[in-house]
Amino acid sequence: MIGLVIESSCDETSVSVIKDGREILSNIVSSQIEIHKQYGGVVPEIASRHHVSNISYVVEESLNEANVTFNDLEYIGVTYGPGLVGALLVGVSYAKSLAYALNLPIVPVHHIEGHIAANYISHPDLKPPFLALVVSGGHSHLIYVKDYTKLEIIAKTRDDAVGEAFDKVARTLGLPYPGGPEVSKLAENGEATYKLPKTKFENYDFSFSGIKTAVINLVHKEGDNIRKADMAKSFEVNVVETLVEHTLNAMKDLNIDTVVLAGGVAANKYLREYLVKEANKNNFKAYIPELKYCTDNAAMIASAAYYNYICEEDKSKFNILRNLDLNAKANLKIGENNK
Ligand code: KG4
Ligand code: ZN
Repeated sequence: MIGLVIESSCDETSVSVIKDGREILSNIVSSQIEIHKQYGGVVPEIASRHHVSNISYVVEESLNEANVTFNDLEYIGVTYGPGLVGALLVGVSYAKSLAYALNLPIVPVHHIEGHIAANYISHPDLKPPFLALVVSGGHSHLIYVKDYTKLEIIAKTRDDAVGEAFDKVARTLGLPYPGGPEVSKLAENGEATYKLPKTKFENYDFSFSGIKTAVINLVHKEGDNIRKADMAKSFEVNVVETLVEHTLNAMKDLNIDTVVLAGGVAANKYLREYLVKEANKNNFKAYIPELKYCTDNAAMIASAAYYNYICEEDKSKFNILRNLDLNAKANLKIGENNK
């Protein structure tokens, strides 16, 4: 069963062709990072315009690389939220046009469900149930994945997402966008010698605005004396410890023995190593996606689309999938498209 799936929620135009939900035949990612770097972050209108000019080429390249034609496709998948609405609309409109022209069903996908599904591609043995630690530029969530299309939020950030905090700390340290990888690179030569606060709640929720503000204040106070690498390391260690501590606490309390890492921040080397080490200490299984499937790409959306598609099929909701009224939803909530 072959599907073609589009992701355009932020600054990557990406198209993947997938077979049977886990075999990636192609995954073309056209990144706009170099374009947005000069502005210090993503400019939504510029992102939308580049998606418009890129998408046809990316679709064509994805089909060519997979060595398939439109006639081989059984469904079209697309990220319909959350994200920048103008950027999402390019993917959604293109997917609807393709589906209409080819008389194929459309499978709408939640972007974060895609990040979690990146692990299905990297780990053929992985099956729900498990706890997902989702860490991206817009999300920091603990999600109980009960089944492929049944997700329950266990915890979330009450303010900044962890990727957002990395990006803001990077800017404070004078590093370019996107800041996460830059902070991480700098941290490799640093020691965690700065004392930074941790925020705790009575549940497993996160908060990263306190530590971000603490970094900004310290950088201003120290002026030229700031040891940038040490600050980067202190920040990285602090947030990684918090993420892993909350995750393990939730697993113990809820009796879940498997954890899955997901989202752009899953590319962070220290987080990957620390999560696996601490999970193993507790006899938990830990799954980490391959680096190429951590930051935004259509392959992960394609895997999630497959599971949505076969679930819809099971429930004879085919007419919903043929719905050409599908719209982009900038603030789409996790689980809102649960079956
Ligand atoms: O998932 P993603 O590509 O886009 C969203 O859905 O938000 O995540 C992007 C975020 C950015 O904040 C970026 O700085 C962060 O992931 N990131 C990292 C690393 N690589 C990307 N953060 C820390 N360490 C990294 N190596
Ligand atoms: Zn993402």
